[in-house]
Amino acid sequence: MPLIALLAGDGIGPEVTAEARRVLDALTLDLIFEEALVGGAAYHATGHPLPPETLALAQRADAILFGAVGDPLCDKLERSLRPEQAILGLRKHLGLFANLRPAKLFPGLEDASALRPEVAAAIDMVIVRELNGDVYFGEKGMRTTVDGLREGYDVMSYNEAEVARIAHLGFQTAARRGGRLCSVDKANVLETSQLWRDVVIEISAHYPQVALSHMYVDNCAMQLVRNPGQFDVIVTGNLFGDILSDQASMCAGSIGMLPSASLDSAGKGLYEPIHGSAPDIAGQGRANPCATILSAAMLLRHSLGMREAADRIEAAVGRALATGARTSDLGGTLTTHAMGDAVLAQL
Ligand code: NAI
Ligand code: MG
Repeated sequence: MPLIALLAGDGIGPEVTAEARRVLDALTLDLIFEEALVGGAAYHATGHPLPPETLALAQRADAILFGAVGDPLCDKLERSLRPEQAILGLRKHLGLFANLRPAKLFPGLEDASALRPEVAAAIDMVIVRELNGDVYFGEKGMRTTVDGLREGYDVMSYNEAEVARIAHLGFQTAARRGGRLCSVDKANVLETSQLWRDVVIEISAHYPQVALSHMYVDNCAMQLVRNPGQFDVIVTGNLFGDILSDQASMCAGSIGMLPSASLDSAGKGLYEPIHGSAPDIAGQGRANPCATILSAAMLLRHSLGMREAADRIEAAVGRALATGARTSDLGGTLTTHAMGDAVLAQL
């Protein structure tokens, strides 16, 4: 039986993962759940945001369902002890090199988007973001210039194997969807991006069924707002993907609606809502659990091959929203638990 590591974390993390758990339980799929502390909750209990037992469980599990980490009580801690280090540590230790963020607008949520309703309605894309390289992981530091000025630096680099690995996933994702892949870079200025573009073009020979295009990242930021319906799959590096995927999410309604998957090369994954621990609404039963419920659907599809069950969850969320079920981020009055009930009622 597949083992799911349930890492609820901090703030609204436990509230939204509880609803995802109820939905998974209702499908009676014979899954085993094991819970462990992560983030601020783990720091307060053990002195470390990612305790060895939590990492060991994540390594042993077939997939990980993650809530969120982040705790205002930990704001003054040194960086290595802060809750957010837990998610970075999991990505690194588990080799989760690809982040998939589908952004689509559920019918009826047009008014929740930051865009005009008719523009928002056309959004249905996946951003494939590289997660283990780029300027986040290059050499970094502080130094003093010859003029005595403080200077911070972060080295941006990608090697061809890193680009090829994420490019393959981008092409495969596009081949399963609308057959269009847009590779986003800044090849007019950056060497890293020139290599990125060269490698993506080389890899494209393996995927004749996918139409490849290239776009500079600044233009892409503009096009996501102007005409997001033009995109099917976007593949991009860590930094550009971080920024573009947050932008795309808000075009597609509430931050409480969007799931994500972080995958390794063997099919293992960590699944989490794109939002954080939302300390401003934690403990009030106001969080929208849909992003986490949809993350559970991604878990079933990508890590366990349970496509039918995943489809059922996504359809149930769609039907619940179509009947008018809304938490406050979507302009409604339902509690987190009542929104979970509304999805369960449609399963
Ligand atoms: P956030 O995503 O937690 O919250 C941003 C805003 O969106 C808040 O007003 C919040 O109330 C609202 N919101 C978020 N999720 C919602 C939901 N499901 N339903 C309704 N409203 C929702 O981002 P913020 O405030 O920047 O960060 C809070 C903490 O979370 C920080 O400690 C941050 O480092 C951490 N964080 C953790 C992430 C993770 O665990 N992967 C990702 C992003 C932030
Ligand atoms: Mg981000």
